[in-house]
Amino acid sequence: MQEYQAILEEIHASLKRIENTGEIASYIPELATISKEKLGIHLQLITGENYAVGDAAEKFSIQSISKVFSLAMAFQLVGNNLLERVDVEPSGNPFNHLSLLELENGIPRNPLINSGAIVIADILLSNLKNPKEDFLGFVRKLTHDDTITYNQKIAESERITGFNNYAAANLLKAYGNLHNKVEDVLDFYFHQCSIMMDCKQLTNAFFVFANKGKCLKNIQHLNSSQVKRINAIMLTCGFYDEAGEFAFEVGLPGKSGVGGGIVALLPHCFTIATWAPALNQKGNSYLGMQALEQFTTKTKLSIF
Ligand code: DON
Repeated sequence: MQEYQAILEEIHASLKRIENTGEIASYIPELATISKEKLGIHLQLITGENYAVGDAAEKFSIQSISKVFSLAMAFQLVGNNLLERVDVEPSGNPFNHLSLLELENGIPRNPLINSGAIVIADILLSNLKNPKEDFLGFVRKLTHDDTITYNQKIAESERITGFNNYAAANLLKAYGNLHNKVEDVLDFYFHQCSIMMDCKQLTNAFFVFANKGKCLKNIQHLNSSQVKRINAIMLTCGFYDEAGEFAFEVGLPGKSGVGGGIVALLPHCFTIATWAPALNQKGNSYLGMQALEQFTTKTKLSIF
């Protein structure tokens, strides 16, 4: 029997002792208002036990973690057809990189880089009656929590400074891989990134990916083939040009966001979420990466 609470506390204490050399994301000005000192971890076992430490119950902007929810919803709606418009190869490049998109004729490398997520947002816009409402409803349903909301201030802050995403969307549009208006797709995309959740809610929401497509209440949302594919995409592409490093150090499928959150999971065993807002140079949480490395090393629980 593992002493999970003691392990989380040990990790938290050890990370509080080291110098945090990460930087808060400031290219979305509203994100830069958060304290660098925050550090939370929440662990949920497939059997239902929960363990938490630090700021695990404080909500933050999930940013790119939302790309996993949009991918899951698009899979639900259009199945493998989405693969005609977005590839599933790691990009080896930063999340906002554009030159590959031009080289590869407007087909994004994968759904977790910005350009890929913008194509997925376009697919959702084409297939949902009330896109923002329906997407939020989907996230709430996975989490079993109706309190989850968008943060309008963060969405607006990102819109004002979102030149790189406008460039990506315009390039996609020029290649014919965006069916709706650039402005509408980006409005949806900025909102999905602005969703506020805490570490516990993230472990609840990601339960489906550890439990063959069934959520906490045992409702089937995705089939096992879709879950296999989403986990594979998280493992190979979830951390951009640090995906290899995350697999090497942590050994779990997962996803990060520039709000400082990371969620990871071991199929059939657990989901874990960390939040520490200061980022390393690749845009992934500096302390979150280390927390997860320590966790899988101490517990010997990883996919490898
Ligand atoms: O599009 C952006 O730049 C942000 N809304 C999301 C980026 C992000 O979270 C990258 N993840 N590490």
